[in-house]
Amino acid sequence: MPGSVFALMDAAKQRARSAGREVIDLSIGSSDQAPSPAVLETLREATHDPLTYRYPLFSDTRPLREAAAAYLGRRFGVNLDAEREVLPLIGAQEGLAHLLLAVTDPGDTLLLPDPGYPPYLGAAAVAGVRAVTLPLLPERGFLPDLDALPADLRPRALLLNYPNNPTSAVADAAFFRAVAAWCRARGTLLIHDHPYAELTFGDYRAPSALEAGVQGVVELHSLSKTHHMGGFRVGFAAGDADALAALARVKGAVDFHPYLGIQRAAALALGLPDEVGRAGAAVFQERRDALVPALRALGWEVALPQASMYVWAHVPGLTDSVAYAVRAAETTGVAVNPGRAFGERGEGFVRFALIQPPEVLAEAARRLSEVAVCGAVPVSPS
Ligand SMILES: Cc1ncc(COP(=O)(O)O)c(C=O)c1O
Repeated sequence: MPGSVFALMDAAKQRARSAGREVIDLSIGSSDQAPSPAVLETLREATHDPLTYRYPLFSDTRPLREAAAAYLGRRFGVNLDAEREVLPLIGAQEGLAHLLLAVTDPGDTLLLPDPGYPPYLGAAAVAGVRAVTLPLLPERGFLPDLDALPADLRPRALLLNYPNNPTSAVADAAFFRAVAAWCRARGTLLIHDHPYAELTFGDYRAPSALEAGVQGVVELHSLSKTHHMGGFRVGFAAGDADALAALARVKGAVDFHPYLGIQRAAALALGLPDEVGRAGAAVFQERRDALVPALRALGWEVALPQASMYVWAHVPGLTDSVAYAVRAAETTGVAVNPGRAFGERGEGFVRFALIQPPEVLAEAARRLSEVAVCGAVPVSPS
């Protein structure tokens, strides 16, 4: 199993607190917003309903499966069979780990992005697959170059994620059509991890990989980001019926679906008007607009994200992002994610999670102006 820098960062934050520093923690991608009151009320009522106290069976998940299928139809124009093509998850992260167990054999090749969400490598290790990383480079808009791969490569699965964590990059429907065609030609399952589907800014709306076809594609959705339900642990997989049947068999050996009250709350959330999700996204957009100019004033190279809840900043001269992040946390109390935590291609970057109000983000940038980047002279914000 790959190691984690989260423990290092946790210790650095603790040292800052012990030294009496106020910590500004921008290192964890967990929304600081609250679920809609109607969602909370649904859950509260469910806790008083004895029907929700027993193990939920597959048939009990039908209302959530139908709500998920209705959402995907309304939002992306994708028509799915709620019986065979949608499966509730205990979060997208759980879904991915079990999906890899379900659709691969040990030794199979899995293509995954570098930089990428760190648990991808853990899930690959659990499934015993050979992880081959796809470089996501700034000059390609952090999109992979599949044509650069050996022509005879026949990976079992390809894992992608747009809007992307950590880079905030987005992909359009034409990209997914091209990737789906590439996968189809090789018998490769396309897995699209899509927790940031609705965290998009302005007029930009993220497409679904399922728009490129349902067969051979599985998309993982989450209630954690759009509906601020990360602690509730609920999401769903949608797409290829055979892959979902295999996933359901693996999950049947491991878990019993989310608590019925959480399923009811999630089904309600998925039926809420679009404006609810948009309002949450607008909060992250306002924070983006506070942080990006402040980082650019430090001389950092930062694209303006169109989506997600992150800012991915290239720091000129940075060669050891882990040491930098630990030093920044200890000396200023500002905790960011070192880019290296997301893979080799993340070196030289740091990731900010937009989980504090604009004025706190501006203060974080001000404090970081005092931290030397590998001996370079710190630049004061203008
Ligand atoms: C790319 C990506 N996938 C999955 C997850 C986890 O989603 P869930 O809470 O539904 O397990 C996250 C959370 O940060 C993420 O960034």
